[in-house]
Amino acid sequence: MRTKIVAGNWKMNKTYKETKALVKELDHSIKDVTLSNTRVIIAPTFVNLQKASKMTRKSVIEVAAQNMHQLDSGAYTGEVSAPMIKAVHVNVVILGHSERREYFGETDALLAQKVDAALKNDLEVIFCFGEVLEDRKSGNHFKVVERQIKNALFHLDSEDWSKIILAYEPVWAIGTGETASPDQAQEMHAFIRELVAERYLSDVAEEVSILYGGSVKPGNAQEIFSKTDVDGGLIGGAALKVDDFMSIIKAI
Ligand code: 13P
Repeated sequence: MRTKIVAGNWKMNKTYKETKALVKELDHSIKDVTLSNTRVIIAPTFVNLQKASKMTRKSVIEVAAQNMHQLDSGAYTGEVSAPMIKAVHVNVVILGHSERREYFGETDALLAQKVDAALKNDLEVIFCFGEVLEDRKSGNHFKVVERQIKNALFHLDSEDWSKIILAYEPVWAIGTGETASPDQAQEMHAFIRELVAERYLSDVAEEVSILYGGSVKPGNAQEIFSKTDVDGGLIGGAALKVDDFMSIIKAI
């Protein structure tokens, strides 16, 4: 059975103090929830990663990094590497987020290197991709998503895929309040699963969790999560409020 996942991408939000408060509240609230076959992941900023990791050591909540450099060490001012992330007991990293692609120029080729570095260091990857509005309007959305996945992931071996989580995040739905309709999400997720099935064995495609991200809120989570090929969500804004994030977790 595919694992369901609700992951909160905190982006550039929450100071040290605020991180402590939010992790504490989440950990407290989650104790009242029965999670079956479901993982809950939060991704605070780098400076707060170690604290969040320590605070959740005995919790069901897992911690992820939001990015990492493709090399293990070196003269790369301002960067953080996979071994550094692992050293603070964080085992998951988000790669390929559209904000990284758009504002920091991350390309498919670079992301392929980052994915390799993450796997080499035994980090699980939440790999994000998704089309911009013009692609959707011009009917190119399938082509764009296919290219993003192929270029960054299709050099991997079948066994590597146990460490890959896919996250479809249409850029036009991120932080805009506009979501893909549940049917649009299902259509794309089914397309992605088929793509993986064509390249790898069908059990790789059946096992990989595909998350949807883009304005998931307590009010729309249940309907989106009810779709066959939607295995959970990557949540931005709503992951910063305990009540909203908890409602979304309960909707899975
Ligand atoms: P929002 O939920 O704020 O639209 O953000 C989605 C996202 O980018 C998660 O990575």
